[in-house]
Amino acid sequence: MRFLTFENKAALGEALGERIAEEIREKPNLILGLATGSSPLETYGHLAKEVKEGRLSFQKVRSFNLDEYIDCPIEQETYRAFMNDNLFSKVDIDLNNTHFPSSNNPEGYDEEIAAAGGIDFQVLGIGRNGHIGFNEPGTPADSKTSVIHLTQSTIDANARFFGNDKSLVPTKAVSMGLATIMGAKKIALIANDTSKLVPIMGLMKGEKDVLKNPSAVLLDHPDVTIYLTKDLADAIAAKMK
Ligand code: GLP
Repeated sequence: MRFLTFENKAALGEALGERIAEEIREKPNLILGLATGSSPLETYGHLAKEVKEGRLSFQKVRSFNLDEYIDCPIEQETYRAFMNDNLFSKVDIDLNNTHFPSSNNPEGYDEEIAAAGGIDFQVLGIGRNGHIGFNEPGTPADSKTSVIHLTQSTIDANARFFGNDKSLVPTKAVSMGLATIMGAKKIALIANDTSKLVPIMGLMKGEKDVLKNPSAVLLDHPDVTIYLTKDLADAIAAKMK
């Protein structure tokens, strides 16, 4: 596991966006795993800029998003809508090539990913409790795509997207499992906020308790890069002294 630190969110997003752009230039039909949340916004912004300025094309890219809410009461807050707004509408991707897990057939998602040849490059954010995708603490390392019940801490954290009304936050989601994520050839995890201190410090210490910190599963993956902002790296360094 490599750790890279950047001055701020913008610099981090530009670096990771450029890395993904390079991957697509090398393999135009890249299979790209995508994440929602605020963490990847600057990264997606850089990709949109590269496409707008003619240096990159998503025409042959196929994407698989990590997760989707079940019974989301606000259409605009579905992860499909988030991706449309923040990436898909700003690049030349064919929407038929963009995939999300569905509660009708969660296991079918792993089969679809396998049939596409597996994920080449997976983007991840991380929850305050270490969740990746919606794999909350307690999720076993060998989990495949499945229906997940959100923990109260995640419902509280995501209420900001629902007018701070916790009762509107969906209680269930469908998410790639930890084994699904581990199947990606390369993984980049973004941690650009000090609220992520506890799980990232666990990774830095090499603590492999996956049931407590789901992101710890990544310690056993051969190609993971953690993209950190300096404020978070400094806060962790102060704690580890
Ligand atoms: C959400 C998503 C995750 C995301 C995480 C962090 O609940 N399901 O995929 O990585 O929480 O969100 P943010 O990037 O907004 O901090």
